Amino acid sequence: EKGGYDYFMLKEIAEQPKAVADTLLGRIDATGRLTLDEVRIPDAVLREADKIVIIACGTAFHAGLIAKYAIEHWTRIPCEVELASEFRYRDPILGQRTLVIAISQSGETMDTLMALRHAREQGAKVLAVCNTNGSTIPRESDAVLYTHAGPEVAVASTKAFLTQLVACYLLALYLGQVRGTKWGDEIHAVVRELARIGDEVERVLETMEPVRALARSLAHKDTVLFLGRHVGYPVALEGALKLKELAYMHAEGFAAGELKHGPIALIEEDLPVVVVVPSPKGRSVLHDKIVSNIQEIRARGARTIVIAEEGDETVVPYADHLVRIPATPTLLQPLVSTVPLQVFACELATARGNEVDQPRNLAKSVTVE
Ligand code: F6R
Repeated sequence: EKGGYDYFMLKEIAEQPKAVADTLLGRIDATGRLTLDEVRIPDAVLREADKIVIIACGTAFHAGLIAKYAIEHWTRIPCEVELASEFRYRDPILGQRTLVIAISQSGETMDTLMALRHAREQGAKVLAVCNTNGSTIPRESDAVLYTHAGPEVAVASTKAFLTQLVACYLLALYLGQVRGTKWGDEIHAVVRELARIGDEVERVLETMEPVRALARSLAHKDTVLFLGRHVGYPVALEGALKLKELAYMHAEGFAAGELKHGPIALIEEDLPVVVVVPSPKGRSVLHDKIVSNIQEIRARGARTIVIAEEGDETVVPYADHLVRIPATPTLLQPLVSTVPLQVFACELATARGNEVDQPRNLAKSVTVE
């Protein structure tokens, strides 16, 4: 049942190109328009929404953080992302024009369920992004957009995360389409790129041997830091979460711009720091800033592990280890930049003798608050 792989996690990492393609299937027509028939919330409601609130936990929360960039950019609707476990305890401001998106692989996470119940009680419409047919969260929502990752068995979420991202991009583009905002060349380009992204993920998977070797060489370390900016920031958080849960290592993700506000004090000789570098195209200002960050930490002794697009030569002098990812539109980069971090965590866990599919103290679906 592991399909020849030693662990479900390895199998599920390898299944990501298919999971991504399956989640796109039938949702973009030949002219590049989005057809999300399952989103049974009337267009009028989607047009009138004045706020979007995303609620989720763990890895699904990281997908939500990335979705915020896409939703605000393509729809201009203000979007908040909140940990489901915090949401209802702060008396959130919700109304009939609030669209709540609940993201959950299992559809059974109690924190997310209680948050969505709270949102509906306040009159908000709830749309679930979920991987499990007929589970509780979609049943209690106004509508559901299913991710088609297939069953995810390993406790650590991988393919579900990538498909959550795809579903959120589709949703953001769809909202843009329904509301008639920014439906221009950029969106067409993104839709075209989404159609190819499964192949790009496949290409990343084919080049992972150096990442595995690097992970094995770091098995004795206590701490790994992750830095990113823009959509690379939630990717850094996700890389750190994977390492905590699988390798039981101290791992933290930071927004690279925050370094000078505190975390840079952590940098010491030979500390591994993974840096997710934004595209040198579209976001050139951010790119320049992160290159400076890499220089700063390296000058203080960090061992830099740089994840950067093919063709980005500016990072080469400052990378102790360079991991290449295909060039993608800025907002889509997490679909390819997350993959090396999954492989990295999985290999480190194995090298440390940990049970990859069943990390200690964790359950696949958390049905208690
Ligand atoms: C991390 C992980 C957890 C889940 C979280 C939410 O790898 O698996 O952080 O993402 O418990 O679970 P779902 O998506 O089922 O609501």
